[in-house]
Amino acid sequence: MIGWLGAAYDWVKAAHLIFVIFWMAGLFMLPRYLVYHQEALAAGSDAEARTWIDREGKLRRIILTPAMIAVWALGLALAVNIGLLDGAGGLGWLHLKLLIVFLLSGYHGWMVGYARKLAAGRPTLSGKRLRLLNEVPAFATIAIVILVIVKPGA
Ligand code: HEM
Repeated sequence: MIGWLGAAYDWVKAAHLIFVIFWMAGLFMLPRYLVYHQEALAAGSDAEARTWIDREGKLRRIILTPAMIAVWALGLALAVNIGLLDGAGGLGWLHLKLLIVFLLSGYHGWMVGYARKLAAGRPTLSGKRLRLLNEVPAFATIAIVILVIVKPGA
């Protein structure tokens, strides 16, 4: 399967990066929305809390979910092209990247779950902890970009 994308490889990589940008933009926005949503709940402002529920739903449906699916599909196509399934050597960076992206996808699901808790008026995290969790996508981005560009150990 190595090289199965042929001349399309660079186009698939470009599409991968376009959707990576959309996905990460959404992952930077959603937790920030949740902080404001939680503050609106604490202030007892029902109308504002409903506005955040609407914004979070749109962000999820229009950006987050479609972008994550596209990033995974295109990224796996690239990974197969460079030998992920053929036992090709020097892919330690890719295995580590896959682990981080897997954890990031879990974070995505967890944040969507937390949005549902807030929609039901049941916050379970302190504002401080929620703000700290906002930084997770930034650290994941730093690690992933270093892995794909520097390819340590390749
Ligand atoms: C969802 C699962 C993902 C898979 C399976 C995947 C896999 C891949 C593969 C195999 C490549 C090609 C590397 C090369 O040609 O040397 C690539 C490129 C790239 N990926 Fe991903 N990726 C995923 C998600 C992400 C995420 C979340 C980010 C950023 C936060 C990201 C950033 C990049 C970048 C910057 C490149 C371009 C590297 C270059 O210049 O060649 N990827 N990805």
